[in-house]
Amino acid sequence: MYDILDYLEKNLTTSFVGRKLHYLAVTSSTQDVARDMADRGAPEGTAVIAGIQQSGRGRLGRSWLSPEGGLATSIILRPATSVLPLLPAISALAVFRTVKSLGINAEIKWPNDILIGGRKVCGILIEHGLTSGAVRYSIMGIGININFDTSLYPEIAGFATSLSVELGHELPVGQVALRLYIELEGLYLRSMEPDAILTEWATNMITIGSRVKVKSANREIEGMAEGINGSGHLLLRQDDGIVQEILAGDVSLITDSSKR
Ligand code: BTN
Repeated sequence: MYDILDYLEKNLTTSFVGRKLHYLAVTSSTQDVARDMADRGAPEGTAVIAGIQQSGRGRLGRSWLSPEGGLATSIILRPATSVLPLLPAISALAVFRTVKSLGINAEIKWPNDILIGGRKVCGILIEHGLTSGAVRYSIMGIGININFDTSLYPEIAGFATSLSVELGHELPVGQVALRLYIELEGLYLRSMEPDAILTEWATNMITIGSRVKVKSANREIEGMAEGINGSGHLLLRQDDGIVQEILAGDVSLITDSSKR
């Protein structure tokens, strides 16, 4: 049997990301497993991988479908406060570069969805463990659709894709995880160069320069996505000229009628 743990242990060249690795064939959510481990003092870079998640969760209270054939991983980070605003960019770029390394053209949708031809192939959820309001650790949860046919799952068929659908063949999940952890560590270690990271993120983001609708917890606004600021927030110019700074929300492109 193909053993993902064995493959990663033999091939990883990182110094901390994925060095401590936990594989669970089935779990509720790797976010919860990683959170427990972080609370018990697991070192930075510890990663949890699940074959199947039964209650995978996404941003903005959504669920995340995690059938067999996907990569569901959560990585424990202990970032300096100054690095926290960069985590969406770092995570998105790590996946973006990983997908590109397979010869597939990808796009980033703010903040950190990865799309292929407008269809979502990856979602990222970053959660924080706090003590007295200060971030003690961050859990970076990454879900990549790899070896399953998204058209067979009605709940995502309309807007999602997978790497195997795009490539026309399956590929080892471990190979994707290996590249992901290497890219992630490289970007994280470069966090003292925020401008380079934010520029690469913005340059590959389809959101910028598009007319978009942003749904957040209590409102929905429309406008032109003009750029991102140094904190990674989206700058949206409304039709009345007022520029709104968006901290979190679900963005859909208005130029494209497909729901994303
Ligand atoms: C989103 O697009 O809304 C984010 C989805 C994040 C999914 C990943 S899969 C690994 C980790 N475990 C979870 O329960 N969620 C994240």
